[in-house]
Amino acid sequence: MIPFNRPFVAPQERAYLTQAVESGHTSGDGPFTRRANTLVSELTGGLGSLLTTSCTHALEMTALLLDLEPGDEVIMPSFTFVSTANAVALRGAVPVFVDCRPDTLNLDEALVEAAVTDRTKAIMVVHYAGVACEMDTINAIAGRHGLVVIEDNAHGLGGSYRGRPLGSLGAMATQSFHVTKNVQCGEGGALVLNDAALLERAEIIREKGTNRSQFFRGMVDKYRWVDIGSSYLPSDLLAAMLTAQLEGFAGIQEQRHAVWSAYHERLAGWAGEHGVSRPTVPAECAHPAHLYYLLMPGLEHQQGLIAHLKDQGVQATFHYVPLHSAPAGERYGRAAGDGCPVTDDVSARLVRLPLFAGMADAELDRVVAAVRSYPFGS
Ligand SMILES: Cc1ncc(COP(=O)(O)O)c(C=O)c1O
Repeated sequence: MIPFNRPFVAPQERAYLTQAVESGHTSGDGPFTRRANTLVSELTGGLGSLLTTSCTHALEMTALLLDLEPGDEVIMPSFTFVSTANAVALRGAVPVFVDCRPDTLNLDEALVEAAVTDRTKAIMVVHYAGVACEMDTINAIAGRHGLVVIEDNAHGLGGSYRGRPLGSLGAMATQSFHVTKNVQCGEGGALVLNDAALLERAEIIREKGTNRSQFFRGMVDKYRWVDIGSSYLPSDLLAAMLTAQLEGFAGIQEQRHAVWSAYHERLAGWAGEHGVSRPTVPAECAHPAHLYYLLMPGLEHQQGLIAHLKDQGVQATFHYVPLHSAPAGERYGRAAGDGCPVTDDVSARLVRLPLFAGMADAELDRVVAAVRSYPFGS
């Protein structure tokens, strides 16, 4: 079976893990955490970065930093992972779901302003597949209404919009280093801050609401409980693994882009003949080859292609199930305007193909052949 994902092992990964174990500093914020933070800041163009235990936790930190109160609203796509919405719902605030664009599957910027109310505090964008949202328009809307923009950049490390790295386009951004991501340490994440005051407070929230980081830097003589917070910092063992991965980023990306481009070229004719859509990447966006997906002509073909590929020894999968109509989405959130018909439609048609660094040419050939042999008519 060709798996959907096969985790990449970076050249220095085992050596750094051994070093972290032998150093005795296995708790958080050790030397590898500092190295990884610097690398994440460089790749995202952020002012500062704080490693977290997951992107989910980084999103929860953004909700704390926003001081969300019950009844406050946050605009976000319905076509996203549950963590984007959970972070808001956990504060008693309301996720307001806006439909996505049919081409990039990103938050439809043309629908955002109509969803703003006097309770709206922020807009959370998700750069689906690492292809940027239309950020100039979204930032202009945020500016007009005094809203904070947060990038859920779980897919987008290394992507850019008009030459600017994803992660630097809002006040805060969240990264994921889950095993399925381009750069991974099993479970992990980061919060990227682009504002000095937010960075200072985030450091406290991440350290159980204490100024322990300032104490370690010799800035205060004892550390105390100064704000609300929780424990969001990962062990330096995970940071060691992540540092090796981040240092290997260029190599990982080269291999992933080769697979992405091969799918895109080799499936172009087949897709055109059968009414299948391939990913759209606007000219102003550079994507990081995180996902390769096909939009099949209908639900029966989504299920059909996944089953056919499984028979051919290829693991393919669907993606997000719309949040606005999910049981918890209805309980804690609401859809803006006329609902999210585009989200409903694409969610029922999308199939993701295997994509990982280290995919052998023979594996790629097999996936392409298996897709092309899907019997549309029968
Ligand atoms: C858009 C988005 N946000 C957040 C997450 C959660 O990431 P993590 O598993 O690191 O918590 C995911 C997971 O894939 C995601 O796709």
